[in-house]
Amino acid sequence: MVKKNTCVFISGKGTNLNNLIIKSRIYNFPIKIKLVISNNRKAPGIDIAKKNSIPFYIINTKSRYFENQTLTLLKKYNISLICLAGYMKILSKNFIFKFGKKIINIHPSLLPKFKGLNTFERVIDKKESKTGCTVHFVNDRLDSGKIIIQKYFDIVKGDNEKTLKFKTQRLEYSAFPEAIIRLYRHT
Ligand code: GRF
Repeated sequence: MVKKNTCVFISGKGTNLNNLIIKSRIYNFPIKIKLVISNNRKAPGIDIAKKNSIPFYIINTKSRYFENQTLTLLKKYNISLICLAGYMKILSKNFIFKFGKKIINIHPSLLPKFKGLNTFERVIDKKESKTGCTVHFVNDRLDSGKIIIQKYFDIVKGDNEKTLKFKTQRLEYSAFPEAIIRLYRHT
C-alpha cells in the first residue's frame, strides 16, 4: 500500500498531531506525515514535529504571499491530504480550490452544534446531555463541510469544561485516525 503524503496544520499543543504520527507508523495506516505547518511560531506542537524529524514550516498568515508559499510547499512534498488539527485560521476559498485535494478538520463538538470557539463553555451553558467530536471535510465556511465521523459521550453530573475537554480529546484520538481510514477505505 502506498501511503498518502499528509501535511498537518497546527496552532497549539499538537496532541492530535502526536497521535496521528504514532498511528501513521502502523504498517497499513493509509497516510504518512511528511510536513507540519504552524501559523504560530510558539506552538508546542512544533517540538513534536522536531522530535519526530518531520519537516515543519511556520507561516505568517499576515503576509499576502502566504497562501501561494504554502501551496508551493504542499506541492514540493507532494501532499495529497491536509489534516487541520487545532489550526485556528479559516482557509480561504482560493486556497482550498487551488490545493484541490482532500482537507479535513477535527472539531470538539457534535457539529452542526457549537461551531467556532469556546465549545465546552457553550455546551455547559446550553445544558446539553451529550457532546463529542466531529471530523469533517473543510470548505470555506467555518466548521461546515461534510461530516466524515462523529463520536460522543453522555454528559454526567459534575462534568465541567475541564472534564468535557479531557473526555472529548480522548475521543478525538480515535476519531481522527478512524476518519482517515474511512477516507481511503476503497483505494
Ligand atoms: C482539539 O481539541 C481540536 O478539536 C480543536 O483544537 C484542539 C487541538 O488540540 N480543533 P491539539 O493541539 O491537537 O492538542
